[in-house]
Amino acid sequence: MFSLQLCEQVERLARVLSMTLHYKDRGTHGHCDRVALLAEDFAGYLGFDGDHRRSIKLAAAFHDLGKIGVPDQIIHKQHRLTDDEMVQMRAHPLISERILAQIDHPACAAMGRWARSHHECIDGSGYPDGLAGSEIPVESQLLTLVDNYDAMAERRAYSAPRTHNAILAIMESETGWKHDAGLFGRFTAYIDQSPYRQPF
Ligand SMILES: [Fe+2]
Repeated sequence: MFSLQLCEQVERLARVLSMTLHYKDRGTHGHCDRVALLAEDFAGYLGFDGDHRRSIKLAAAFHDLGKIGVPDQIIHKQHRLTDDEMVQMRAHPLISERILAQIDHPACAAMGRWARSHHECIDGSGYPDGLAGSEIPVESQLLTLVDNYDAMAERRAYSAPRTHNAILAIMESETGWKHDAGLFGRFTAYIDQSPYRQPF
């Protein structure tokens, strides 16, 4: 899927985009960096080959890049978003895909599709496309799991960091409508012995 040479060029570009995101929103930048490492490691646990793992890592690094296109006052808002603000926030996966599409390579098109679908839910209630079940690329389902785990592990404006057990309890309650039960089972087996597991 990926020639090594292109991958190195894309990884250099990823560092440029990552630094751009850093100056937009340090919190999102740190989250994307951690999700990239976690996604790559989980993909390895699932048996994905080296090129596939690297492309998943890059897609994870870019998954929230589209927040560059969301106004600062919405990204940093400490209270519930209005309906209009929610519409703008929910555009970020589409913007991530649009930015990646500029690289104009099939591998980046795939990464863009995976990033686009990281807020889809297995029952079709997610966004931006309302995809359900196997319509959602497995790479996107993987991204959703590691994205959710890291998001709940970090301190956010509206919530304190949660413990490992508390995060898994919430994710388990979301299984069947948000996450596929089989993939969530693989994730729980993986994260328990992962170096990226929350220490408490
Ligand atoms: Fe997101």
